[in-house]
Formats: sequence, C-alpha cells, structure tokens
Amino acid sequence: MQKPTDPKEEKTLLIIKPDGVKRGLIGDIVGRIEKRGLKIIALEMTQATRAQVDDHYPKDSAWIKRLGEKSLKTYQEHGMNAKAEIGTDDPDEIGKMVRSWLLDFLTSGPIVKIVIKGIRAVDMVRKIAGQTMPTLAEMGTIRGDFSVDDAAAANRGQRAVHNIVHASETPEEAVHEIQFWFAPEEIHDYKRAEEDIMF
Ligand code: CDP
Ligand code: MG
Repeated sequence: MQKPTDPKEEKTLLIIKPDGVKRGLIGDIVGRIEKRGLKIIALEMTQATRAQVDDHYPKDSAWIKRLGEKSLKTYQEHGMNAKAEIGTDDPDEIGKMVRSWLLDFLTSGPIVKIVIKGIRAVDMVRKIAGQTMPTLAEMGTIRGDFSVDDAAAANRGQRAVHNIVHASETPEEAVHEIQFWFAPEEIHDYKRAEEDIMF
C-alpha cells in the first residue's frame, strides 16, 4: 500500500506578478508567508517568456470558459451588459480574450516565483492570497489589502485583472507548476527554528 503523503510535505507555487514586483511588495508578501509558519524552499526573479506563461496556465476549454464566467459574474453583479462592454456574452469567447491579456500581463515585467512548503500549503496560500477579484477579496489577504481591480474595469482596458499574485489551486496542479518553473536542485529544504514549537 502506498504511504499516505505527510501533510507537512505539501508544496505550492506562488508567483508575484509584475504589478506586485513593480509596486515593491515582494518583502511584504514573503513576510506574510513566513510569519504564517509556511516555509519558503525556492525563490527566484525571472522575466517569463510568453511561451512559458502560455504553458503555465491551463489551455483546456473548461478553464478558459471559467475565466469568461468570472468576467460575466462581475458584469451581472453590477448590472452591466456584457455585449455592450466587451462585444460578446459568450464565456468561451471572453475567456479566450482574458487568457491572451493574461499572457500580456505576466510578461509585462519580472515576476518572482516561489515554492512554499507546509501543512495544507495549497489552501493556506490561496487563503493568504484572497479571491481572484481584488474588489471582493477580504481585508487581511494580499489581494484585499493591496489591490482594487475587477474584471469589468480590466476588460474595458483590454487587460487582465491586476491582482498581485498567482497561487496553485490544488496539490496536483502545484506539482506540475513547481516542476515547470524549477529544477529539483533549485529547491532547498531545511529546518525552520520554530518547527518544534508550532507543529
Ligand atoms: O488567479 P486565480 O486562481 O485566483 O484565478 P483564475 O480563475 O485561475 O484566473 C487566472 C488569472 O486570470 C487571475 O488571477 C486574473 O489575473 C486573470 N483573470 C482576469 O483577468 N479576468 C477574469 N475574468 C478572470 C481571471
Ligand atoms: Mg488559478
């Protein structure tokens, strides 16, 4: 029988997007992760290519549709007309546009890619990041504290939502994303001083 995975071994990928880097938020973001008790085991600044970002984000139609649905939800919440705003109310079509703007955004400046390890690292980092739309993100989260964008504003500007960070959504997705952005020898484990006290 396969040994169950040790919860302490869970890993996730966090990317500080170009808006976060340009606004000088690297230190604050890293500090929030570390103070929570999560361990940073790899960290590097890089200028991503369009091809890299294209391979980082899912390409399947369900994911693209979900991007479009997030825009449509924002329009609905504010009584806005999708067709008038963006020329279509088809989530697939909107999703394709958003995905292309996302590639523009992620290549618009350097990013910082970080591997984080710890108990329920994926969910913990998603929680610290906050909801996708900054206008809905809770105070106390990275997106809630540092950004103000939403899909309606972003779509008008023909750009992706500026929301400071990317964080893996599931442990499986994290495995792929970490393998994609880091070679095994670039990831370094070590013991944090408070490990014996906290868990
Ligand atoms: O980043 P997160 O996992 O919270 O959201 P996602 O649905 O996986 O979308 C990826 C990224 O696309 C978001 O973080 C936004 O930057 C962008 N996005 C957008 O610009 N407009 C949308 N309607 C949906 C997402
Ligand atoms: Mg996502």
